[in-house]
Amino acid sequence: MSKISIIAAVADNYAIGKANNLPWYLPADLKHFRQLTTGHAIVMGKRTFESLPKGPLPNRKNIVLTSVMSEGVNEGYFEADSLEDAVYLCEHEEKVFIIGGATVYKQSIDKVDTMYITWIHKEFNADTYFPEINLKEWNEVSREDHDPDDQNLYPYSFVKYEKIKN
Ligand SMILES: NC(=O)c1ccc[n+]([C@@H]2O[C@H](COP(=O)([O-])OP(=O)(O)OC[C@H]3O[C@@H](n4cnc5c(N)ncnc54)[C@H](OP(=O)(O)O)[C@@H]3O)[C@@H](O)[C@H]2O)c1
Repeated sequence: MSKISIIAAVADNYAIGKANNLPWYLPADLKHFRQLTTGHAIVMGKRTFESLPKGPLPNRKNIVLTSVMSEGVNEGYFEADSLEDAVYLCEHEEKVFIIGGATVYKQSIDKVDTMYITWIHKEFNADTYFPEINLKEWNEVSREDHDPDDQNLYPYSFVKYEKIKN
């Protein structure tokens, strides 16, 4: 069975998106995202897919959730019309990452055991937010804190959470 995890970059005020884009430019997080997800499957909502400047992300199995399926075969990605169908399409994958946006995080946060959250330690104006994380339900299992630098203008932390089992 595949290991299914959420991966997201989330601001202190839970902002994740604005005008169908990221509210920030943080290349260290893009690299972290690429390192974790390359070689695996990624599941995303249609709006997130439309926000990708170069289309499907390379070297990953791209699954796009949509209620309006295209006819025929798509170049570089697959479509699914439910989260269950998306997971089914990934049944032979070792790792599956749910990569957003808000509608997809909301549907999956109670279904995954692992989350990779990049906390960006600043509040941003946004129109899209990550669902509230009940930190009593999650163990922080690793954390890397980073100061800002020339390329990455905000302090940020790479945090991995595992769901506490009852
Ligand atoms: N900070 C981060 O880590 C991060 C990550 C990803 C995205 N984002 C940001 O989040 C924003 C986009 O998020 P969003 O919530 O507006 O949109 P979204 O979740 O990316 O996409 C929503 C669309 O996905 C489809 N969909 C979702 N669940 C479905 C299901 N169960 N079955 C069938 N189709 C389903 C629907 O498409 P149809 O209308 O075609 O049916 C729906 O309209 C952007 O600003 C993006 O930059 C941020």
